[in-house]
Amino acid sequence: MNHKNLEWSDKFSTDILSIDRQHQELIYLSQNLLEVLSNNDTHIAEKQTAFKDLVDHALAHFEYEERIMRNIGYPGLEQHLREHEDLRNEVANIAEDVMNGNAMEDWKGLVSLMQVWVLRHIVASDTQIREFLQREDDDI
Ligand SMILES: [Fe+2]
Ligand SMILES: [Fe+2]
Repeated sequence: MNHKNLEWSDKFSTDILSIDRQHQELIYLSQNLLEVLSNNDTHIAEKQTAFKDLVDHALAHFEYEERIMRNIGYPGLEQHLREHEDLRNEVANIAEDVMNGNAMEDWKGLVSLMQVWVLRHIVASDTQIREFLQREDDDI
């Protein structure tokens, strides 16, 4: 995956506009963070701020998406909650290093990895919400 050119694609769409917008924001923030991390002139505090921005958005997004799934009676909720929990744990592990200023040379790799996990989750699991809503529509 070429991270420099990572862009929104229709295959990421859940057909829920608010969720799609948040996913777009997450992609934008992760791209921005990779750029900030690539710049040798950027101070470590600035890099940490860009990282925190992404993490805050990701955590708020997971909560929002969970609320939506509950509201629509999404049948895959339990499994989806487990996946979010795994992602939260992975993010928390990385965040510990980043916020302590440890292992700075690894940050870029970790952020790329995080990006891959989140995108994989969006494509594999978040888009299932769209399929559920389409089935519901067909039943009416
Ligand atoms: Fe999501
Ligand atoms: Fe999700």
